[in-house]
Amino acid sequence: MTDMSPATPNDLAAWWMPFTANRSFKAAPRLITRAKDMHYVTADGRKIIDSVAGLWCCNAGHQRDAIVAAIREQAGELDYAPPFQFGHPKAFRLATKIADLAPGDLDHVFFVNSGSEAVDTALKIALAYQNISGQGGRQRLIGRERGYHGVGFGGISVGGIVSNRKMFGLLLNGVDHLPHTYNREKQAFTRGEPDWGAHLADELERIVALHDPSTIAAVIVEPMAGSTGVLPPPKGYLQKLRAICDKYGLLLIFDEVISGFGRLGFAFAAERYGVTPDIICFAKGVTSGTVPMGGVIVRKHIHDAFMRGPEHMIELFHGYTYSAHPLACAAGLATLDLYAREHLFERARDLEPKFGDAFHALRDSPNVLDIRTIGLVAAIDLAPIEGSPGLRGMRAVEKAFYEADLLTRVAGDTLVVTPPLIVTEAQIDEIAAKVARVIRLVE
Ligand SMILES: Cc1ncc(COP(=O)(O)O)c(C=O)c1O
Repeated sequence: MTDMSPATPNDLAAWWMPFTANRSFKAAPRLITRAKDMHYVTADGRKIIDSVAGLWCCNAGHQRDAIVAAIREQAGELDYAPPFQFGHPKAFRLATKIADLAPGDLDHVFFVNSGSEAVDTALKIALAYQNISGQGGRQRLIGRERGYHGVGFGGISVGGIVSNRKMFGLLLNGVDHLPHTYNREKQAFTRGEPDWGAHLADELERIVALHDPSTIAAVIVEPMAGSTGVLPPPKGYLQKLRAICDKYGLLLIFDEVISGFGRLGFAFAAERYGVTPDIICFAKGVTSGTVPMGGVIVRKHIHDAFMRGPEHMIELFHGYTYSAHPLACAAGLATLDLYAREHLFERARDLEPKFGDAFHALRDSPNVLDIRTIGLVAAIDLAPIEGSPGLRGMRAVEKAFYEADLLTRVAGDTLVVTPPLIVTEAQIDEIAAKVARVIRLVE
């Protein structure tokens, strides 16, 4: 593809890009025009390897035939169906499949269109559940420092990323935060779950003592915090949170928007940790990123608590025009089939030791402060350039794209690698070698 004209827009001004340094991007745009399996093709015809599954979402790889065919077919059969008071068969089929993948009695699925909507939906369900259960005083929500729960007002309120919060007013009332679980001195260069840090879950006891359990509805955490640079849960931490929530009647919500659908070697991280939350948020991997979709899975007793009162009445005043969109449901069904057929969750689990070896081998590269690996996730903390935090990371993304034919991602100065689960052992080595080169390029 050497002719750039069809792929290259002549005016980049109109699109105000999300979470992007717009002026820098538009001065040197990184345009992507095609994708297949593990690779993207750039507007100037270069094939670059995707080390981040798009944005932690294309877990099955790109443009997989079965998923593409399912979306095409669906578009030709039923383009849209209203989800309020009507339904279409694939929505029910997909909900059943997702409920089957979820642990315990997480049996009911509420569909939305993104991770942010999933989080706000989960928080609303938690508050409403406490309300209809005669516990209307339970209105507080507990999140965690360095947590990312999308960009809705609920999500940024319980989230713990300062830059995502500080410009947007006072946010939700009655939110408190657990401390984050990262301590470089105690945890540096850990594979999997760090040994140190389970005691940080006891901070929930302090928060409960401060506010009284009768005022707290729910606790929300990512089982593995992703967006602030990958913070795997310390051994025993999630189990402790579960026990404290049980002790005080708090609902435990796992935001599995990135840990779901195989990233940590299981359908959900809940399974990896043997901890069953009351509510799971999912998105991204459910359609392998092909059509926007998210959802919330709730335990049976939560769902059933709403199924009282007159049967002609709407039980939950919540939902989206595009909840369970037919194209998303078709994509979701094809994606889950493909994950099962190719055993991709097990594949991620089997590859974890090899993946860990490949990235921990970069430990002596210049400016490396820490490396964390878990499942098919690696995070490499680089020392910030003095006075300009985030600049080395940004340069790394640019150098990777232009000079190493690598699509990568950073959180500040932390390089993050989260490839599609179809990555081969040779491609793991290839990505690690490219990352090593990029680290030297930004020395
Ligand atoms: C844990 C978590 N929750 C929520 C979200 C928000 O998802 P979306 O961007 O689809 O709204 C993300 C996105 O990365 C996420 O990592």
